[in-house]
Amino acid sequence: MPVLRADGAVGTIAGCVPVAAARVGAEMRRLLPAPPADPVPDLVELFGNDARPARAGRPWVVANMIASLDGEIAVEGRSGPLGGPADKAAFMALRSVSDVIVVGAGTAAAERYGPVRLADEVQDRRRRRGQQPLPRLAIVSASARIDRSLPLFDGPTPIVLTTADAPPDRVEALAAVADVHQHGTGTVDLAAAFAQLYTDGARVVLTEGGPTLLGHIAGADLLDELALTIAPLLAGGSGPSIVAGLAPGVRPFTLERLLEADQFLFARYVRA
Ligand SMILES: NC(=O)c1ccc[n+]([C@@H]2O[C@H](COP(=O)([O-])OP(=O)(O)OC[C@H]3O[C@@H](n4cnc5c(N)ncnc54)[C@H](OP(=O)(O)O)[C@@H]3O)[C@@H](O)[C@H]2O)c1
Repeated sequence: MPVLRADGAVGTIAGCVPVAAARVGAEMRRLLPAPPADPVPDLVELFGNDARPARAGRPWVVANMIASLDGEIAVEGRSGPLGGPADKAAFMALRSVSDVIVVGAGTAAAERYGPVRLADEVQDRRRRRGQQPLPRLAIVSASARIDRSLPLFDGPTPIVLTTADAPPDRVEALAAVADVHQHGTGTVDLAAAFAQLYTDGARVVLTEGGPTLLGHIAGADLLDELALTIAPLLAGGSGPSIVAGLAPGVRPFTLERLLEADQFLFARYVRA
């Protein structure tokens, strides 16, 4: 529904209602109690219709992360306890729009990443949109130390993004089971790595974390969109937030959509 903002502009966020009388400096909108139900029937279609224009010579980069109310991103080293069925649906729907899914070596190991799978019907929709039926999986590692017993090596050939100065014996071993791309020294030059993915046909790169990788992506000014799920629980602990190692500084984003299911909030933020 359209909303009149304090600055006079008209904005829309699906399902929100304006708070009529109160002026609180910035505009405040009431999302709950909910207006008449406006269920989203098809997340794959909803997310697939979002604009994600490729940038000059590089893909659109979207990150998907889940955090607890206290900002934790894992419980005992895994993100699974934070999620639930609605989060799983959003996770899969975002995968369905991507051409390459990029994860850090820490996440691939902690979450025991496997090959990317999508329902046949979703693969058909991708073909109709001119995409490959499945996104490719890319693992980022400077050390090139990736456990080859991980299930991700049991499916389509993954990509490994590593550095030009990674240990040659490890690079050689990985090249037997992955397409190895080498960019930068010390850490992967992600701008160059993503530019190569673009040259190879990728228009949307989805990163599923973790925080170290997301810190590098944001630090290189490559993050276009953040899909942030807020789980309705406290997790405790003292782990990193969704982004680690990012230099202090304000980087504004615009809230483009906010969905709710099972008390979880699903926010779509796009770089302002
Ligand atoms: N809540 C969520 O949404 C979510 C999402 C993902 C992960 N997680 C959690 O996050 C935790 C893992 O955190 P993490 O920070 O270790 O994960 P990570 O970012 O996936 O992995 C860190 C590793 O990735 C590699 N890496 C990242 N950026 C790099 C770059 N620019 N160049 C070269 N290598 C790079 C390095 O590997 P090498 O050491 O091999 O060089 C680095 O040690 C797990 O507990 C996981 O469950 C939570």
